[in-house]
Amino acid sequence: MVPDIEIRGLSVWFETAQGPVAAVDDLSTTFRAGRISGVIGESGSGKSVMGLSLLRLLPNTAHVTGECRFGKADLYAMPLRELRRLRGASIGLIPQNPGASLDPVMKIGRQIAEGITAHGGLSRREAAERTAGLLRQFGFADPEKIAGQYAFQMSGGMCQRLVSALGLAGRPGWVVADEPTKGLDAVLRSQVCTVLRQIYTEHHTSMILVTHDLYLARRLCDDIRVLYMGQIVEQGGAVDVLDHPRHPYTAGLTGALPGRGMVPIPPPDPERLDHRGCPFYPRCSRAEAHCGRARPGDFDRPGGGKVRCFRYA
Ligand SMILES: Nc1ncnc2c1ncn2[C@@H]1O[C@H](COP(=O)(O)OP(=O)(O)OP(=O)(O)O)[C@@H](O)[C@H]1O
Ligand SMILES: [Mg+2]
Repeated sequence: MVPDIEIRGLSVWFETAQGPVAAVDDLSTTFRAGRISGVIGESGSGKSVMGLSLLRLLPNTAHVTGECRFGKADLYAMPLRELRRLRGASIGLIPQNPGASLDPVMKIGRQIAEGITAHGGLSRREAAERTAGLLRQFGFADPEKIAGQYAFQMSGGMCQRLVSALGLAGRPGWVVADEPTKGLDAVLRSQVCTVLRQIYTEHHTSMILVTHDLYLARRLCDDIRVLYMGQIVEQGGAVDVLDHPRHPYTAGLTGALPGRGMVPIPPPDPERLDHRGCPFYPRCSRAEAHCGRARPGDFDRPGGGKVRCFRYA
């Protein structure tokens, strides 16, 4: 039985030359097994940091507090030796930066086969067959040829699909997919979406899908969490959140889509920068005076879920 991933009070900040940088701010949420959970939010909102924290893959300048229950274990506190056994086998990662994630001096086929055999106890031939199958699924018409090549011989879009294959190679119960369609054209985006859906239905792989691609999120996800400045400001069923956004920030994200008029979220209003209220207050087009004085809690969201905005108090 694949356990849920339960994050409690996660905060992450980084030491930098310019001082501390906060990335995730007291975030609590439960990702339910058996679902595809989307995480959206503008650049820098903390999506990748939250995802990488689960596998403890943040650099050592990151300070992480909180708890992450995964069955009986706490992912943030368990011995690293044990956590390494979960990586790839229980929780796979499709990382955001594919170029940096592929080994430059190991043939593609061997990298994927290693992901398959590391936890699976399959023979080399079985691993090679599964590698070819995965590559074919991800749109490589000639998997044998690709398997014999190196990462530098691949285009950006090919690397993107290769890291997806790599993240799924060990057939993990969970996968954290960080921008799996980034940089792909419409045809390949649709293909990756189909493969993820297939893997979800055939292998019951639970997924955390981090994406800017709201069409992908709508097609694939059961639920959505919307991140702003390291906090979840809205969560609920994927279609409902994307079609009927309640938080002004979510409305801004979905309104910035080409089909919806492309209205960008306004930059901060300098008059509103000094405040103790809602983090979105300086940019909110619907803010009222009290929004700048107190932080909203999580209120029940019409349509289900939660929303962190006083309009729903
Ligand atoms: N290694 C690091 N050192 C310092 N700050 C970092 C580091 N990694 C992330 N951050 C900061 O943490 C915050 C959250 O970053 P994160 O990468 O999670 O954003 P994101 O939501 O994934 O954005 P994107 O959509 O661009 O991928 C940002 O302010 C970022 O600058
Ligand atoms: Mg990211």
